Amino acid sequence: MSKEASYGGLPAGPRSRVPGRVIWQYRSRPIEFLEENAARYGPVFAFSMSARRFYVLAEPELIRRVLVAEADSFHKGPALKLASDTLGNGLLSSEDPLHRRQRALMQPWFHAQWVRRYAATMVAVSKRIADGWQPGSVVDVHQQMTRLTVMVAGQTLFGLELDQSLDVIGPAMDALLKAFNRLLNPVGRVMMRLPLPSTLYYARQRDRILQLVENLIAEKRRRLAAGQAGEDLLTTLLTANKDSQQTEMTDRQLRDECYTLLAAGHETTSSLLTFALYLLGRHQPIAEALRRQVVQVLGDAAATSEAIGEMPLLQQVISETLRLYPPAWMMARTAIVPFDCGDFVVPVGSIVFLPQWLLHRDRRWWPHAEQFDPGRWAVANTERPRFAYFPFGGGRRQCIGDSFAWQEAALALATILQRGLLTPVSNEPLRVYPSITLRPANKVLLRLLPVQASG
Ligand code: HEM
Repeated sequence: MSKEASYGGLPAGPRSRVPGRVIWQYRSRPIEFLEENAARYGPVFAFSMSARRFYVLAEPELIRRVLVAEADSFHKGPALKLASDTLGNGLLSSEDPLHRRQRALMQPWFHAQWVRRYAATMVAVSKRIADGWQPGSVVDVHQQMTRLTVMVAGQTLFGLELDQSLDVIGPAMDALLKAFNRLLNPVGRVMMRLPLPSTLYYARQRDRILQLVENLIAEKRRRLAAGQAGEDLLTTLLTANKDSQQTEMTDRQLRDECYTLLAAGHETTSSLLTFALYLLGRHQPIAEALRRQVVQVLGDAAATSEAIGEMPLLQQVISETLRLYPPAWMMARTAIVPFDCGDFVVPVGSIVFLPQWLLHRDRRWWPHAEQFDPGRWAVANTERPRFAYFPFGGGRRQCIGDSFAWQEAALALATILQRGLLTPVSNEPLRVYPSITLRPANKVLLRLLPVQASG
C-alpha cells in the first residue's frame, strides 16, 4: 500500500461524516463489512471511532508478527476484556504473569498424549447421542452437537455428568454471545448498565451459570475428600491449589478457569461439528465416500484415536470445514506499544483485527475459495504461508484445546457416520451468527437415512 493511500496516518478504509456510522455498519453485518471493505481497499484497511483506531490485518506476515514474533507488543482485544464480567480472569482473557502461570499448570493436561485417554468417553457420548436418532427422523444438529460437546466437556474436564445442566448452559451461552456483541458498541455498553429487561435476563443467565460452575467445584471437592480422585482437569486444578504454594489459586480464579474451559471447550467444537455435518449433507458424494472409509476402517467397532490416522478423508473434511466456517472467525488484540507496519504505524491503544474469515477465503492461497473441497488437503501445500490458515490461532496464546477439539470432532463424526448418512430436509442455506465465536444462525435440520439407503 502506498503512503498516498493512507489518511492522516491511517491506511485507506471506510470513512463517514456521520459519527458512529462505520462502527454501526461493522456491528450490524460484521462479515459483509469485512468482505466488502477488503474487496475495496485490500487486505489491510482501517477505520476509526471516537479516538480509537481499528486496523484489519488480513496479511499472513502481519498476523505472524502480532501472534508470534511481537506478541509481547499486544494485549487481548477490548471485547474479551469487557466480557470479563462473565469470563473473569480465566485463561482466554488473562494477561501475564497470571496467564503464563495458569497456562503452564494446565498445558500438560491438554497434551495430545494425555488427550488420548478421553477418546473412549468421546466415542461413548457420541454413540449415546447418535443412537437416539431413529432412521428417517429429523435431527436438530446444532442442538444435538451442543448436547454432545457439553457432555464430553463435563465428563473429561470435570469428571461429572452435565446432561441435566443443559437447560442452564444453553440459554447462558446464548445470552453471553448476545451481550458480547452489545458490548462492542458504546450505546450497547450504556444499555448493559441500565436495568432493561434484556440486561436483567443476561444477568440472571450469567448468575445461573456461575452458580452451576461453583456447584460443580463443590461437588468435586466433596468427591476428592471422599477419596474419589479422577483424571479430569478439575482434579488437577484442585490438587495444584492444595499442594503447591507456587500455584495457589483463589476460589474465584478456579471458578473463572472452569467457566472459561466449559464455555471455550464446548461452544466452538459444537459449531465445528454442526458446520461439518451441514457441509456433508450438502455434498452427498463426499459424505458417501467418507462413510465408506469409516466403515472400511472401523466396521462396527468403536472409533479410536489411532483409527483417525487411517481415515485421511475424515481429517480433510475437518480441515476444510475449519477453513470455510472457522468457529473462531476473527481475533483481536490491543497494541500496548507502537506497531510498525512499514507504511503506517499502529498507535498504542489501537485495535488490530486478525480475521480468519478473510484469510481462509483469500483467493491468493485458496483456488475456488468458496467451494467445499476436502481434496485440497490431500497434498501438503508448501507455498501457502503459515498464517493463511489459523483456525486455532497461533503463538503462545494458541488454543490450548486444539488436540482435544480435533480428536473430539473426528471421533464424533466417525461415530455418527457409522450410524448412517444425514441429508438436508430443505434447501435453506446456512446463515452464520458472528459473535465471540461463529455459530449457525438458523437451525440445521438433517434427516438420518436408513442404513440400507446410506450404503
Ligand atoms: C473447533 C474447536 C476450537 C476452536 C476453533 C478454537 C479456537 C481457539 C482460538 C482461535 C484461540 C485463540 C484466541 C486468541 O488468541 O485470541 C483459542 C484459545 C483458547 N481455547 Fe480454543 N478452540 C477450540 C476448542 C477448544 C477446546 C475444546 C478447549 C478446551 C477444552 C479450548 C480452550 C481454549 C482456551 C482455554 C483458550 C485460551 C488459551 C490461552 O490464551 O492460553 N478451545 N481457541
